[in-house]
Amino acid sequence: MFVLVTGGMGYIGSHTCIQMIESGMTPIIFDNLYNSKPTVLDRIEKVSGVRPIFIEGDIRDKQALAQVFAQYDIQSVIHFAGLKAVGESVEKPLEYYDNNVHGTLVLVDAMRDAGVKSMVFSSSATVYGDPASVPILEDFPTSATNPYGRSKLIVEECLTDFQKANPDWSITLLRYFNPVGSHPSGELGEDPQGIPNNLMPFVAQVAVGRREFLSVFGGDYPTKDGTGVRDYIHVMDLADGHLAALNHVGSKQGLHIYNLGTGKGNSVLEMVVAFEKASGQKVAYKIVDRRPGDIAECWANPAKAEQELKWKASRSLEQMTEDTWRWQSNNPLGYPQS
Ligand code: NAD
Ligand code: UD1
Repeated sequence: MFVLVTGGMGYIGSHTCIQMIESGMTPIIFDNLYNSKPTVLDRIEKVSGVRPIFIEGDIRDKQALAQVFAQYDIQSVIHFAGLKAVGESVEKPLEYYDNNVHGTLVLVDAMRDAGVKSMVFSSSATVYGDPASVPILEDFPTSATNPYGRSKLIVEECLTDFQKANPDWSITLLRYFNPVGSHPSGELGEDPQGIPNNLMPFVAQVAVGRREFLSVFGGDYPTKDGTGVRDYIHVMDLADGHLAALNHVGSKQGLHIYNLGTGKGNSVLEMVVAFEKASGQKVAYKIVDRRPGDIAECWANPAKAEQELKWKASRSLEQMTEDTWRWQSNNPLGYPQS
C-alpha cells in the first residue's frame, strides 16, 4: 500500500516511515527539508533496509502534489508537514498560518482532485488549551493560546467541515501529547535546530555537554513537586499509533479523533532524574520563572484509542530516556549535513 507521508523526513515522520516499512507499507515521503536533513533517508535505509521514495517539495505547491498523485497509486496520506515552534509562531503568525493552514488546504484540494479520500492529520494536545481537569478526553472543549495552537485548531475545524460535506472521506485527527525518545538503534532521533524549545532535547543536550544547565520553568505549580507535569510518549509508540489509525479507521468513512498519550503524567524533575539514571550523566538545573503560556499539568485519557484502534503505548520512561541518550551520545550534533 502506497501512503504519502508529508513531513516524513522530520522527527515523528521518519520514525513512522520505519514502522510502515516494517509492516509492509510503502511510504512516499514529501518534504521541503525546511526542518530536516537529507541524511535522514540514509538512516531510514540503514535501519529498515529500504530507501524510501523521497520527493523534495512543498505542500503549498499543488502542481508538485498533483504530479506525485498521478505517478503513484496512493491510498492514504499521513500529514505531518508543518511548523511547530510555539515561540516562533508568536513572532511569525503569517508564516504559521500559511504553512500549517493554507498548506493543508492545498494538500486536501490535491487529494480531492486525485480521488484520494483518506487522511491522518498530526494534531496536538495543545488544542485543549488549559484543560479544566485531567486526564483529558477527546470531547473536552478546545481553545488556543498562540498562533501554532490556533493553526492546529483551525485545521481541525476545516477538516471537520470538509468531512461533513464529503461523507465518503476518512479523516483522522491524532492529538499527540509529548513525543520523546528515539529509534532504539540510536540512528534516528530528534534534531532541533538552534536552542531546543522542548524539555527532552534540552535535557539531552545538557547531559552531552552542549549546554550548561536546564532552566526549569516554574517550581511553584500545584503539582506533585511544583514543576510542570506532562504525558511523555515514546515516539515509536506514537509511530505505531499512526499505523493503527490507518489499519482500523483509515478506510472507514467519518471523522475520527484520538488522543495519543500514555495516560500517565511526569514532572520536569522526574524527567531529569530518569535521564540522569539512563545516561549516567549529571543534568544541572536551575528553577526559574514560569514560561508564559505554560499550563501546570496535562495528560491524556487514551482509552478511546485503545478501544477503537487496538493501540496502547507500551514503552516505559526508562526506554524513552535510554533511547534518547543513545541517539544523543552517538550523534551529539544531530544528523550530519551529508
Ligand atoms: P519536524 O519539524 O521534525 O517535522 C516536520 C517536517 O515537515 C520537517 O521535515 C519539515 O521539513 C517538513 N515541512 C515543514 N513545512 C513543510 C511544507 N510546507 N512542505 C513540505 N514539508 C514541510 O516536526 P515533528 O516533531 O516531526 O512534528 C510533525 C507534526 O506533528 C507537526 O505537524 C507538528 O506540529 C505535530 N506535532 C508535533 C509535536 C512534537 O512535540 N514534536 C507535538 C504535537 C504535534
Ligand atoms: C510545548 C508547546 C505545545 C506543543 C508541545 C509539543 C508551549 C507553551 N507549548 O508543550 O504547544 O504541542 O510543546 O511540541 O511551548 N520545560 C522546562 N524547561 C525547558 C523546556 C521545558 O522546564 O527548557 C518544562 C515546561 O515548562 C513543561 C515541560 O517542561 O512543564 C514540557 O515542556 P515542552 O517539552 O516544551 O512541552 P509542552 O510545554 O507540554
